[in-house]
Amino acid sequence: MSEMTSTTTEIFDPYDYDFHEDPYPVYARLRDEAPLYHNVSDDFWALSRHADVHAALKNDTVFSNRMGVSLDASAWNQDAHRVMSFLALDGKEQTRLRKLVSAGFTPRRVRDLVPGVQALADHYLDRLLVANEDHGEVDWIAELAGKLPMDVISQMIGVAEADRDEVRRLADLMVHREDGVRDVPEAGMAAALELISYYVTMVAERRKRPGDDLTSALVRAEIDGDRLHDGEIIAFLILLVVAGNETTTKLLGNALLHLGANPAQAEDVFTGPDLVGAWVEETLRHDTSTQMLARYVAEDVELHGQVVPAGSKLLVLIGSANRDERVFTAPTVFDIHRSPDELAKSMSFGVGRHFCLGANLARLEARVVLEELVRRTSGLEVHSERAVRVHSTNVRGFAELPVTFTRRA
Ligand code: HEM
Repeated sequence: MSEMTSTTTEIFDPYDYDFHEDPYPVYARLRDEAPLYHNVSDDFWALSRHADVHAALKNDTVFSNRMGVSLDASAWNQDAHRVMSFLALDGKEQTRLRKLVSAGFTPRRVRDLVPGVQALADHYLDRLLVANEDHGEVDWIAELAGKLPMDVISQMIGVAEADRDEVRRLADLMVHREDGVRDVPEAGMAAALELISYYVTMVAERRKRPGDDLTSALVRAEIDGDRLHDGEIIAFLILLVVAGNETTTKLLGNALLHLGANPAQAEDVFTGPDLVGAWVEETLRHDTSTQMLARYVAEDVELHGQVVPAGSKLLVLIGSANRDERVFTAPTVFDIHRSPDELAKSMSFGVGRHFCLGANLARLEARVVLEELVRRTSGLEVHSERAVRVHSTNVRGFAELPVTFTRRA
């Protein structure tokens, strides 16, 4: 079939529930038939091939983050950086903030989180396995995956232990999507404001009495006399919630779903040498939580023979790039035995100046939790027919995932 550079909406509707159930056949059509796709009714463009996604993410001059990274009109505006910090900035402004923040977010600081993450994994797994025995199954999201990532963030930034349940409730409400996928519901805005006000108080306290947490490190951070002011610190704390909570929850859920659907590989994971790292990486490639990122086209650009005008909104489809048959062998197959070289080509944590600041932390959380799970259990059955999917253009994964675990004797 000849390449179409522009079509009506019949191929790709990112708000369509069927698309959320299984976006991959749609991506395959886009890659083959419309590698530059123009959705006329919602007025956005999309790139789906690995090479194009990589090039667009690298070229942050033309493909800007300045309007935010979400497709939704409600989150697309010049002020996106007020809640998304440097994720929604370019050039020098992004470099400055990311540098200052990185001073508090070093690899050592992330490594130091291991005992805390392990304690949380033990805590939630203890309860989960008791519930599993009592009821014959458990909801992996409610019991662990939906809680641990936000608790890790709270631990890292120094939220008092007594406040962590409430902070998690607000963080979850902030991205709550009721039955629709387009609009930020009012409850979400109210929760965001409450969380911001909690962080305002916390930052003020750390300015008075600094401790050993990330917030205190951000208060202290200084490069050549330049420091972060309160608004910048608070925007970064909110960014951690937006970027690091739901994404990691979805990774933990998707990992179980795909291992459950592949009994031979589950057997390898539960009986063989340590394959947890490979299991996590293949989950990230095969079915990543961040399927697409939006970009603002800063100047006219020619792609696949067509000019995309300045001012356009363009989606880079990471979920599609990770399944591109031009790069991956048998891309639709979930295979934890893929070579590290191939896995390294997956772009789940982005590319270039906005490469995920929390990639090491997300990997660490997944490894600690899943290694502990493998130590304590000898198998799993995922009841995927009763799983409840989240409908969203921002994340891919589950709101509920019933699983039965076999406890090790
Ligand atoms: C940026 C994915 C977990 C913090 C990004 C980007 C992606 C991504 C694709 C690039 C955005 C862009 O190019 O516009 C993921 C996935 C995760 C995850 C799939 C889990 C499986 C985390 C965690 C944290 C975090 C745990 C921290 C607690 C950030 C931050 C940025 C970012 C701060 C902005 C970096 C910048 O703009 O310079 N993430 N992320 N992420 N992520 Fe993550």
